[in-house]
Amino acid sequence: MNTAGLVTVAYITAAVLFILSLGGLSNQENARKGNIYGMLGMVIALVATAAQESVTGYGLLAAAVVPGAVIGALLASRVAMTSMPELVAVLHSFVGLAAVLVGVANYLEPTAVIPGEESIHAIEVFIGVFVGAITFTGSVLAYLKLKGSVSGKPLMLPGRHLLNLGLVLTCVYLGYDFVAWGHGADHPGLVPLLIMTGIAGFLGFHMVAAIGGADMPVVVSMLNSYSGWAASAAGFMLGNDLLIITGALVGSSGAILSVIMCKAMNRSFISVILGGFGTDSGGAPSGDRKGPEGEVTSVDVEEVVAQLKEATSIVIIPGYGMAVAQAQHSLAEVVKILRAKKKEVRFAIHPVAGRLPGHMNVLLAEANVPYDIVLEMDELNADFPSTDLVLVIGANDIVNPDAEDDPSSPIAGMPVLQCWKAGQTVVMKRSMGSGYAGVQNPLFYKNNNDMLFGDAKKNVDAILAKFRE
Ligand code: TAP
Repeated sequence: MNTAGLVTVAYITAAVLFILSLGGLSNQENARKGNIYGMLGMVIALVATAAQESVTGYGLLAAAVVPGAVIGALLASRVAMTSMPELVAVLHSFVGLAAVLVGVANYLEPTAVIPGEESIHAIEVFIGVFVGAITFTGSVLAYLKLKGSVSGKPLMLPGRHLLNLGLVLTCVYLGYDFVAWGHGADHPGLVPLLIMTGIAGFLGFHMVAAIGGADMPVVVSMLNSYSGWAASAAGFMLGNDLLIITGALVGSSGAILSVIMCKAMNRSFISVILGGFGTDSGGAPSGDRKGPEGEVTSVDVEEVVAQLKEATSIVIIPGYGMAVAQAQHSLAEVVKILRAKKKEVRFAIHPVAGRLPGHMNVLLAEANVPYDIVLEMDELNADFPSTDLVLVIGANDIVNPDAEDDPSSPIAGMPVLQCWKAGQTVVMKRSMGSGYAGVQNPLFYKNNNDMLFGDAKKNVDAILAKFRE
């Protein structure tokens, strides 16, 4: 078999590994295996691409790939789990920028144009650069918003939808120009291509600027999808089948994830994209809303330990605060002790608990919590009435009864864990402060709820110490 044949076989193998990788990532038992398939696929893809006969500048390739790989590995190993969306946003911006650069370079020096199909190639270049530019500026702004360097408040310019529409139509017109007279040796299409790049860059910035902090993770997932389509378009430009397949996998999985996240937050995908929703990043409850009725009962660690000893069925609901406090390892020890005492202990995971999809599952897996006691919201919600005790650790919005009871609440309609139906709940957090959505939580005021104030890690450690005494 010649080199081209070997490269094709390697590309097909890599594509299959990428599909297996996505399949593996769909549940936590296989997630590790899924990651390994993905890494293996990427190594095969890189080696096969470098081995192509057309690739000659190995020195230049190494100068780009080696520092890139080192920086990427360092950043990924150092990033805190809670900052993962920021890292993902930055990585998407690179894909967008790469698509723009590949598009412009490919226009100036085409590599994969079939004679007679110049117009098709020009359309591929134009679309690739358009999607790439939107992805680049949108991802950079999403990164800055998530990092807090730029306010999370939605930018609401008057007539912004019309402005966006006008920009898109201008790009369509420039695309027509580019395809119609872009093939000459002196590159007459470069001007419309570059003007469009600027406009698309502004469009990406403006679209993300209009989206509030609360919807930012959906935006990151949407930009993930865009980066996939940009990579796919680059694959068409370069005549690289693997890039087309990989881009399509990323593009479609990102789009599916965005829709799943919207559903879990009870937001319509279109309303997220059109923007305008969301506070800075949570913050204080709004002043004009009537506060919840009832009294807050505060308990200490001894009382919670006594409740745990008495209960036979216990459900633990982890949230963003558990991630911040890094309480999962001590919690896993407490769970081991409780299970040794023949108590039924299960975890209830809300689909948007924490700040990124699967956030809680990753933390619990890291602490070696057995997978079979980690259940999804839909699997556990019906069991709360027969549960003795629910421990809510650093969670807030995902256990807010107002989502069901108050149609005027900003989170009305969001599916929530109905823990208040259990015999007793204990909420562990530092204060009466609100969560991501910035709304008050009537659960804290219910008769069958106690508050254990303080850092989640410190309190779980104290509970563990009491059990070990
Ligand atoms: P939140 O509603 O954000 O509540 C987290 C709570 O943790 C806060 O109220 C905070 O209260 C407490 N906390 C913070 N640090 C703590 C610490 N060291 N020890 C103990 N408690 C601590 O979290 P959630 O219930 O997990 O809900 C997730 C929210 O994020 C939802 O609104 C969801 O829509 C949104 N969101 C999620 C995602 C994904 S994909 N997961 C994406 C975007 C948005 P104190 O300050 O009083 O301690």
